Amino acid sequence: MRTIAEFEAAARQRLDPVHYDYFAGGAQDEITLAENETAFRKLKLLPRVLRGSDKRDLSTELLGSQASMPILIAPTAFHRLAHADGELATARAAARAGTIMIVSMASTTAIEDVAAAAREVAPDPALWFQLYLQPDLEFTEAVVRRAEGAGVKAFVVTVDSPVLGRRERDDRNDFHDLPPGFAVENLRDIGENRSGGNASHVRDIVMSAGLNWEHIAWLRSKTKLPVLIKGVLHPEDARLAVHHGVAGIVVSNHGGRQLDTVPATIDVLPEIAAAVGGAMPVLLDGGIRRGTDVVKALALGADAVGVGRPVVWGLAAGGREGVSQVLELLREDFDQALAQCGGRRPADLTPDQVRR
Ligand code: FNR
Ligand code: LAC
Repeated sequence: MRTIAEFEAAARQRLDPVHYDYFAGGAQDEITLAENETAFRKLKLLPRVLRGSDKRDLSTELLGSQASMPILIAPTAFHRLAHADGELATARAAARAGTIMIVSMASTTAIEDVAAAAREVAPDPALWFQLYLQPDLEFTEAVVRRAEGAGVKAFVVTVDSPVLGRRERDDRNDFHDLPPGFAVENLRDIGENRSGGNASHVRDIVMSAGLNWEHIAWLRSKTKLPVLIKGVLHPEDARLAVHHGVAGIVVSNHGGRQLDTVPATIDVLPEIAAAVGGAMPVLLDGGIRRGTDVVKALALGADAVGVGRPVVWGLAAGGREGVSQVLELLREDFDQALAQCGGRRPADLTPDQVRR
């Protein structure tokens, strides 16, 4: 398979249609979901020539984690619904590719087991952990300790989900519980969960509408690891993030799954990059399907990008091997696009190389 679209088609064939809808779908009219991809298509590239970019170096360092390319695995929930090996397969593929995997708090495999799988492949894998800060801070702290114990290298707090988005495909399919035998393993025994300890309801991932900057300060006081926030779209929030000392931000609209009709992430990136002014790393996810998308995001100010659904499609289509293929496809595609733009390193890309 040569494209992410082909992986999606293969995944769709294998997946339970209800689970396919969960992975593929977005909020309400799915306007943002579609826009994330079309916005990239509307941008045109302006290559530079005669710059002698014989051999590229894609490696990227982010907050002390080494990545072999500026393409990371965005956190997505419930990998065992995509493939029996679930997050174990994803983590092994990430470690093999030498890139960062942001493990979802809503993983269907415990973080300790995910980390052990990654370590089978690489001695020092770059696993980051995504957090939904729970109203029960004591519980949240226990999860933080577990993740630290497993050896994660950063925390990514998702801030775009004061409440879960309205996903009408899931409502139509009545998809609200994980099938028997599946659980949100990192949330087991959460005091407030609705399924009484086993964390098998989608809504056991308790969203916290009361979240504010003090919670971020609280988390920073509880860990020495870098704390990023994920789900920033407003430049003022990017400025506040710098002010409050977070380590980095992820420009994200949750893959169009939260508030519908927000802009494509690539369309707000330039303003956010300007607001941050290099004070911390800026990551972006949403709609990355091609190497040229990666080039555009980096040129417009991102330090790295995350991919969500493409990884799920690789996983569903072929387990660990499928995820590896998706990552290598994106790496090769990006490398070629970078070469054609006259770049040797990701940092060589500049905003003047993108036109509307
Ligand atoms: C997500 N996303 C997500 N984000 C997060 O912070 N925690 C999570 O548990 C999940 N779960 C999740 C499940 C599924 C099925 C999808 C598609 C997405 C959002 C994810 O991290 C990322 O922002 C988007 O997936 C990026 O868009 P693309 O790459 O899917 O277009
Ligand atoms: C989702 C949640 C789990 O997007 O983040 O499905």
